[in-house]
Amino acid sequence: MERPDNLILVIFGASGDLTARKLLPALYSLKIQNLMPEKFALLGAARTEWSSDDFRKHASEAIKKFSEEKDLDPAGIADFTGCMNYQRVEYLSLSDYEQLKSVINTLSATFHTRGNLIFYMATPPSLYEIISTNLTKAGLGSPADGFKRFIIEKPFGYDLESGIKLNQTLHQLIAEDQIYRIDHYLGKETVQNLLVTRFANGIFEPLWNRNYIHRVEITSAENIGVEDRGGYYDSAGALRDMVQNHLLQMVGLTAMEPPSSLDADAIRNEVLKVFQSLQPIKEEDVPKQVIRGQYTASKIRGECVTGYRYEKGVDNHSRTETYVAIKFYINNWRWGDVPFYIRTGKRMPTTVTEIVIHFKPSPHHLFQRVIGKLSGNQLIIRIQPNEGILLKFDMKEPGSGFKVKNVNMDFQYKDLADIRIPSAYERLLYDVMNGDSTLYARDDEVETAWKFIEPVQKAWKNNPAIKVYGYSAGTWGPEPSNSLIEGEGLTWRYPSKNLADEEIYCEL
Ligand code: BG6
Repeated sequence: MERPDNLILVIFGASGDLTARKLLPALYSLKIQNLMPEKFALLGAARTEWSSDDFRKHASEAIKKFSEEKDLDPAGIADFTGCMNYQRVEYLSLSDYEQLKSVINTLSATFHTRGNLIFYMATPPSLYEIISTNLTKAGLGSPADGFKRFIIEKPFGYDLESGIKLNQTLHQLIAEDQIYRIDHYLGKETVQNLLVTRFANGIFEPLWNRNYIHRVEITSAENIGVEDRGGYYDSAGALRDMVQNHLLQMVGLTAMEPPSSLDADAIRNEVLKVFQSLQPIKEEDVPKQVIRGQYTASKIRGECVTGYRYEKGVDNHSRTETYVAIKFYINNWRWGDVPFYIRTGKRMPTTVTEIVIHFKPSPHHLFQRVIGKLSGNQLIIRIQPNEGILLKFDMKEPGSGFKVKNVNMDFQYKDLADIRIPSAYERLLYDVMNGDSTLYARDDEVETAWKFIEPVQKAWKNNPAIKVYGYSAGTWGPEPSNSLIEGEGLTWRYPSKNLADEEIYCEL
């Protein structure tokens, strides 16, 4: 892999949580793999009163605490933090950006970065427009002398209108190809592997359609609650926080047509077509097709767990959903009439993200009378943890008669010797440094995703009678979500943390 051109990375929100937990460890990992530019400077910017030394000390502690690298070398970390500087900014003050510009010019001369700049907005979303406007006013947005790239964290707006407005404002300042909208799920190795699984193997694609697939299920469950993010989460909720972005992107990659090439726009065009084909959910159908829930106090493994409404920063009467499950269809030739089910929730029994392709049963049940019930084939793509792919199929148990057992054919990443799975941020930061936007969301994708979400937001807003179901922390969400799944006796797959743990026996 190539090393990117020399550049300066400016992180706004440098004293925040995202920078410490994700960005600094990811940059350090790239550094030790020799994937950082030969000459590189990191300029932290935030409101906190820090000197560059304070920032270096903070960065070094963050790397030690959050890096997943096995052998952390203190000298290597010190060497890496040596390229870091800090500049205090008041985000609204234009003169602070002028000041920032003069620091950038000095760094550019020292590190020979030839005007190449990346700005990372690791700040609250309300600041994206302000920072971008001030950067361009200070003359830091023009790509005339070296590239200028702007990384924007999610959420990109909080509904269709604000999403469009954010895009319009950014487009007045900079070009679309300078904007990198991060959806960290796209940086996950296993999410990218969806493309390889589907389009590098001749065996899956012929079956990947309405003729052979009964339904598709995508689950992203977390066993943590909202932790210390109650303030943010209470105004976001699971629909905005997880569905509009991460879950829909997984739907896009699962359902898209083969792209004509691996070019960023070729892939994003196909994802966009899926979003454009999502059958709009009518406002009046929201109570039937969308189930929302909120976790209530409970005891998990003997420990008392606070209910959502009593979390720090959360309104005691909040109706914000911490769980959402949606049933929908994709109106195109490949997926007509195949139901898609997606769900996400906090305080679930385990943390797991997976895509389950349920194949239709065999057309003639030769063994049905003998064994009563066949379980059907499932292809399970485990995004995290215990990354891998599992195919469930029925086989005859050796011995007399026809005793059928559902078995697993599995591949797990951990079995690959010497393979290291890079973190999502590592991959995405490497890509933006190389100007590759394949794994970043484009303006039209984001807006079309909001368009799909809009009737749900409207129905919830306009109709307070639509229930927010309570579910005990540590359970799989509210009971009514089970009846979303169409078909007698069908329900969600209840995954365990270990991919290959569940076995289903069909006894004689
Ligand atoms: C973030 C959400 O985008 O994704 C969080 O804001 C969520 O609420 C997180 O916990 C989940 O990411 P991951 O990579 O841990 O699955």
